Amino acid sequence: MQRIRELSPELHDALGRALAVFQLGEAGEGRVAHEAARSDAPFLDAALVECIDLYVREEGRHARELLRVLRAMEVEPLRRTPAERLFRWTRRALGLRQKMLTIAVAEVVGVVFYGLVHERVACPDVAAVAKAIANDEAAHLDFQAALFAEILREASPAWRALACAAFFAVGAGAVATVAIDQRAFLRAVGCSPAELGRRCLHEVTSRWPLEDRGAVWASLTRQDALAA
Ligand SMILES: [Fe+2]
Ligand SMILES: [Fe+2]
Repeated sequence: MQRIRELSPELHDALGRALAVFQLGEAGEGRVAHEAARSDAPFLDAALVECIDLYVREEGRHARELLRVLRAMEVEPLRRTPAERLFRWTRRALGLRQKMLTIAVAEVVGVVFYGLVHERVACPDVAAVAKAIANDEAAHLDFQAALFAEILREASPAWRALACAAFFAVGAGAVATVAIDQRAFLRAVGCSPAELGRRCLHEVTSRWPLEDRGAVWASLTRQDALAA
């Protein structure tokens, strides 16, 4: 990728920081695959463990593609940010199901963020990478919806309600964190916090009810759907 010079200084700085934060997040999910491989959770079979491994590897590819964009923008990658630390600590404190739930929330935010970059950043190289990653994240979110339909299939109504409440609580926290942490980027691309929230909610409600995702689940157990 050639050097990216066509962005305004304001957008360059805000986008560079936002992409650096997301690049860090993409690079940090490797433990989940190891944990899934060692888990004896009843909802995990060999095909699903392999899907999770491929899923995590695809996130690693996103991290590498974003690193390429950062270099083309001449932006230094980040090592650690408060938002990334919070997300990482939250995941490590949780079991596999809850960990997948926090990753599902990250997918919602990711689909919306990369979609905004694709739609509103007038730089073909950046927009093309963002569009490709947004498409992958949408498939990941379909996978998560199917996974949670499977996990919740045998759960009692009370557990289902609790899981949904937890998802929306973590989701609201994640949207608020992005609205604050990425306010410069959101302002630069003309996205208000309310629009950010609406877009995230749409990504969830368009995959609801989870029970209807059986066909997606079947297709996403194929390696080619998530191959890195
Ligand atoms: Fe990703
Ligand atoms: Fe993803």
